[in-house]
Amino acid sequence: MRQFPNHIDGRWVPSGDVRPDVNPSDTTDVVGEAALGGADDVAAAVAAAQDASETWSRSPIQQRFDVLDAAGTAVLARAGELGELLAREEGKPIGEAVGEVKRAGQLFKFFAGETLRNSGELLDSVRPGLTVEMTHEPVGVVGLITPWNFPIAIPTWKLAPALAYGNTVVLKPAELTPGCTWALVDILTEAGLPPGVLNLVMGDGPVVGQALLESDGVDAISFTGSAAVGRQVAETCVRTGKRVQTEMGGKNPLVVLDDADLDLAVAATVNGAYFSTGQRCTASSRLVVTAGIHDRFVEALGRELAGLTVGNALDPDVQVGPVVSERQLEQDLRYVDVARQEGGTVTGGERLELATPGYFMAPALVAGTTSAMRVNQEEIFGPVATVLRVEDYDEALATANDIRFGLSAGICTTSLKHAAHFKRNVRAGMVMVNAPTAGVDYHVSFGGRRGSSYGSREQGRAAREFYTQHKTAYVFPG
Ligand code: UN1
Repeated sequence: MRQFPNHIDGRWVPSGDVRPDVNPSDTTDVVGEAALGGADDVAAAVAAAQDASETWSRSPIQQRFDVLDAAGTAVLARAGELGELLAREEGKPIGEAVGEVKRAGQLFKFFAGETLRNSGELLDSVRPGLTVEMTHEPVGVVGLITPWNFPIAIPTWKLAPALAYGNTVVLKPAELTPGCTWALVDILTEAGLPPGVLNLVMGDGPVVGQALLESDGVDAISFTGSAAVGRQVAETCVRTGKRVQTEMGGKNPLVVLDDADLDLAVAATVNGAYFSTGQRCTASSRLVVTAGIHDRFVEALGRELAGLTVGNALDPDVQVGPVVSERQLEQDLRYVDVARQEGGTVTGGERLELATPGYFMAPALVAGTTSAMRVNQEEIFGPVATVLRVEDYDEALATANDIRFGLSAGICTTSLKHAAHFKRNVRAGMVMVNAPTAGVDYHVSFGGRRGSSYGSREQGRAAREFYTQHKTAYVFPG
């Protein structure tokens, strides 16, 4: 059986307890066994990260560039094999899984380049003779807590900037996807990362995650996960004096106006709402559709959904893989029931028995919903989208904004006027015009507003804000 041990101070450390890493497309297929770490492992990992911090924070930028660049090259070269591991472990269809791995490779390359661009500012002082220098220094030891739904891209978009700017890291991946993160740590170690700079501790959130949050040796926490956990993470970090960044849920609207290109709108919806089994915080989960196109849109979308192939993530013809776990599947099915109870008209949404035992579900479309319903206010995180019929653009915008989240929002229209107004007035961190709400570039900032995000942005040049701290130096030549 393949083992995924923890990695502490440059060594692979087996733990007494292990957890099976099960393929959600075929539960008879066990991918490996992952370490179930404890508070002791976290303490050892934090101590190693602290010890390595001084040297790594002063390491030549060429060294950091070389490590990240080599890791990017290795990830890209192994995209097929890593994509297969991701598809097997998480259930993302193989094509999307390979795409995610490539995104991780590109993220490493991007942040390799950023090591060379950590510029400061030099100003004259208001006091004669003095100059003022403003520079960006590493924060220190950073704890990263990552989710299962992008098990390679999200750890990478946190650890690449963390390392690029000279921080040391303790990484705690999601319980369901240890193998992908294990592979990343293996690649970075092979790429020449010194011992202690990146430590991996797998295990349960309430044990390993909590120990990281409480640790005095950790200076900052970057978290991606649910809104409920994110709030606790932020509270604990404030109480223990840590810098914190949380990326949480979404309930993203995709507005379809009467003048939209129908085929484009349907394609954007299928991609945004159902690819990755809807398990994206950026998923297009609320479809806000104006009256003149509503019936045609619902009918065309229904036809597309009926034609989607649901099945084993390793089958290249499959478009929608399994739900990640039994627990998540039960939650998705419960919400389909709630949708019915609330008066929605549900198409699909039933559990599927396929050739292999797995957590399969038919994509669900819930028509005839109103904004106050639970299925329009709570994040489901599965292949379930609702349709909200509205009269006109103004009602569409108001409906789009009637939510406590604010991650991503989309609009399908051929009207420049409405697109421009929506871009300006929708309350979300990211806006997509004639494109799915999910699927982001790797070189620009990522993040939301309101209940979706807390703290500074991830990715792109914005990542420096979180992974560095400012120093302002006043210099008098004497
Ligand atoms: C994407 O839509 O390409 O957890 C990325 C999530 C997000 C990442 C989405 N943090 O779904």
